[in-house]
Amino acid sequence: VLSGKCPFGGDRVGGTFASPPTLEQWYPDRLRVETLHQNGPQADPLGPDFDYKAAFESINYEELKADIRSFLTSSVSWWPSDYGNYGPQMIRMAWHSAGTYRIADGRGGAGEGLQRFAPISSWWDNGNTDKSRRLIWPIKQKYGNALSWADLMVLTGTVALEIMNFPTYGFAGGRRDAWEADNATYWGPELWDPHNVKSPDEMVNRDKRWRGQNGDPDYDLEQPLAASHQALIYVNPEGPYASGDPAASAHDIRVTFTRMAMNDVETVALIAGGHAFGKSHGMVKADRIGPPPEIAPMEAMGLGWHNPEGKGSAEQTMTNGIEGSWVPNPTSWDNDYLTNLFKFDWKQTKSPAGALQWEPTDPNAPRTPDAHIPGKTHPLMMMTSDIALKVDPVYREICQKFLEDFDYFTLEFSKAWYKLTHRDMGPKERYLGPEKKLENDLIWQDPIPALDHPVIDAADISALKAEILASGHSVSDLAFTAFSSASTYRKSDKRGGANGARIALAPQIGWSVNRRAVPVIETLRGVASSFNGKATGGKTVSLADLIVLGGCAAVEKAAQEAGVDVTVPFAPGRMDTTSELTDEASFEWLKPVVDGFRNYIDDRFAEITGGKVAPEEVFLDRANLLALTAPEWVVLAGGTRALNLNHDGSNHGIFTDRVGVLTNDFFTVLTSMDYEWKKADPAGMSFTLDDRESGQTKYTATRCDLVFGSNAQLRAVTEVYAGADGHKRFVRDFVKVWDKVMNLDRFDLRV
Ligand code: HEM
Repeated sequence: VLSGKCPFGGDRVGGTFASPPTLEQWYPDRLRVETLHQNGPQADPLGPDFDYKAAFESINYEELKADIRSFLTSSVSWWPSDYGNYGPQMIRMAWHSAGTYRIADGRGGAGEGLQRFAPISSWWDNGNTDKSRRLIWPIKQKYGNALSWADLMVLTGTVALEIMNFPTYGFAGGRRDAWEADNATYWGPELWDPHNVKSPDEMVNRDKRWRGQNGDPDYDLEQPLAASHQALIYVNPEGPYASGDPAASAHDIRVTFTRMAMNDVETVALIAGGHAFGKSHGMVKADRIGPPPEIAPMEAMGLGWHNPEGKGSAEQTMTNGIEGSWVPNPTSWDNDYLTNLFKFDWKQTKSPAGALQWEPTDPNAPRTPDAHIPGKTHPLMMMTSDIALKVDPVYREICQKFLEDFDYFTLEFSKAWYKLTHRDMGPKERYLGPEKKLENDLIWQDPIPALDHPVIDAADISALKAEILASGHSVSDLAFTAFSSASTYRKSDKRGGANGARIALAPQIGWSVNRRAVPVIETLRGVASSFNGKATGGKTVSLADLIVLGGCAAVEKAAQEAGVDVTVPFAPGRMDTTSELTDEASFEWLKPVVDGFRNYIDDRFAEITGGKVAPEEVFLDRANLLALTAPEWVVLAGGTRALNLNHDGSNHGIFTDRVGVLTNDFFTVLTSMDYEWKKADPAGMSFTLDDRESGQTKYTATRCDLVFGSNAQLRAVTEVYAGADGHKRFVRDFVKVWDKVMNLDRFDLRV
C-alpha cells in the first residue's frame, strides 16, 4: 500500500484470500484445537433461536410427499430422468448421504446434510449426486427452512422406494443441517489430486488404510474408517484394486458394512434391495470428465463432473464408469435381482468407459430396457460387488432365503433402510413427523423406557443430596461416577450419556475405566430402593438420576470448600433401561480409547492408533464428541483434576494438596515457572514436575495434563483460570460445563 501497489499482488495472497501454505502444512503434527469450533453459531444463518421442530411440524406433510412423488416421475431437459423416473437416482443420493456413518466414532451419516460440503460432496463415489440435490432444489425452496436438506434427502429416497411399490418402514424428520464442511472427521490417510482422479484406483494407495495382506486373518481397516478407499462410500464396485475378484470384494463388503453397524442379513438386504432399482452409468471415458464440485469452475455454479460428450446426460451419462442395469424392470420392486444373479452364470466384460463388470453368459437371459431410447435393450449387468453376494458362503445362504421368501426379503430391506437412514439420529424423542413409528423399540435406537411416574421435587432433591454425601463415598468417587455415566455421550450419532443408567449394565459396568464407579452404583441402588419404598403417589427416583445427583452434590461440596457457594442445576426425569434393551456389542464401541478427563488410556491404544496418534489427539476427539468448546474443554479438565477423577486413583495431573476442593491449582501449577517439566519415559507419555530450586519431584503428569500448558490455544485459556482473578470464574464455568455434560443426552428437555 505504501508503495502505491495493489495490496493483493504477488504469487500467493494471504488473509481472507488465503492460499497455502496452511498451518497444517508447516506443522503437520499440530493439535487442531480449532476443530472444536466448527459449525458454530457464526456459520448458521438461522440463528440460535430457530426452532426446527416447530418449523418441520408446521409443514403439510402429505402435500410435501405429493410434491416429491410428482417430481419423481417428471423429467427436466438439463438432466433427464432414466426410465422417466428419478426414483433410483434419489435412492442412491439418500443411501450415500447415510452410508458415510461409522460406528467407531458415530461420525458420518445422513444427520446433517454433509453431502453438500467437501470433501464428501466431491468424492468420486458421489458423482452426480450434485445433480440429484439440484433436481430437488425446487422442493427445498418451497418448504424453505422448515425442511432441512438432510431430511429432504432421506425423505426423497424413501418416497422413491414407495412409488416403486416398496413398502417402507416409515420416515422420521429431525435432522438439522450443518452449515460448513466438517473438518473434524478423519476420512483416511491418503492424499490424492482431485483434479486428476478418474477412478477409485487412481485415487489412492489403498494399502495405506488397510493393515495386513488380503487373505490374512488380521487383514482389516484402520479405525475408525468404514470405507475401503478414500472418496468411496463403501467398496470399489470392481473389487479391491479393480481386480474383479468377488471373494475379495465380499471381504471388503463385510468389513465396511460391519463398520456401519450392519450385520450380514442387513448387508445383503441393502445391496440386493438397492440394486433392484435403477442403473449404473459409464458411457464416457473418465479422463473426459471435469473436476468435482468443490473445484469446478465458477460458471458451473456448484455442479461438478462436467461431461462434454453429447448432452452430457441421459444416454451419455457418466457417473461411476460401470454401465447398465441389474434388472429387467428397474423402476419396480421385485425379486429379479437375486433371481437372475443365481439363475445365470456371469462373465466379465467392460463398459464403454472401460470399467470391469459382468453380464450373463446365456444369450437368452432377460434384457433390460435402455433408460432413454425406446425399444433399445441391453444385457443385464452385475458389479463384482454384486457377484460377491453369490460367492461368499454366508451371503449366499442369506440370498437363498430371500429368494425363497420375497416377503421376508422385503421386510428385512425395509427395516435395514430405516436403520441406515435413522441410525445417527439418537433417541426417538428427536424424531419428527407423522410417519416416525415410535411404537416399536428397535435395538439400535438404544431404547430407554418412557418416563411413566412423578419425579422427585426440590425437597426430595436436597434430602437425597445430603443422604448421598453422608453415604461414605468421597466427593471424588461421586463425581467420578456421574462423569463416567454421562461422558459416553457422542454428539456425532447422539448415543451414550447418563440417561438409562447404562453404566450399571454390561458392557459398561465391566470396563476397567469405570471400576471406581462400581461401589458407588451399588450404594446408589440402595438409596433408590429405600426412597422408592417410602415414596407415595408413584413418585420414583431412577438410578440414572441419582448418579447424576450424586455428582451435583459432590461438585457443590467441592465448590463450597473452595469458598464459593454454588448450586449445580439438576433436572430429574431420567429413566433406567434394561439389558434386554441394550445391544452390548454396539455399546462396546462407546468404550473410550483415551479419556483425558479420567486420565485413561485403553490397553488397545497402540493397536488402534498404530502408534501414529498421540493421546492428546484422541482426548481432543473426546472433547469434540462431547460438544465442548476449547474454553469448556480446559475448564472441565481443570475441574476433573481438582476433584481427582483419575480412573485409577493415580496422582497424575493432581497438582494440589487439597484434592476434592474446586481450586484452580491445576492451572496455577501448569503456568508456573517454579517447576521444570521432564520426560519420565523415553516415549514422553509421562512427566515429572521438579522444583527448580530443590530439584525434588513435586508432581507427575501425563500428556493429557500437560497439553493444557503446552498448546498455545489451550494455554491461552489456562492463563485465564490461572490469573489472580481466575478462581471464581473457574468455579462458575466449571459448574456450567458440568451441567452441560450431564444433560447432553436430555433431548426431552431440549426438543
Ligand atoms: C447405483 C455401487 C450398495 C442403491 C450404484 C452404482 C454403483 C453402486 C457403482 C452406479 C452409480 C452410477 O454410475 O450411476 C454399490 C456398491 C455397494 C452398493 C459397491 C455396496 C457394496 C447399495 C445400497 C443401496 C444402493 C446399500 C441402497 C440401499 C443403488 C441405487 C443405484 C445404485 C438405487 C442406482 C442409481 C441410479 O439409477 O442412478 N451402486 N452400491 N447401492 N445403487 Fe449401489
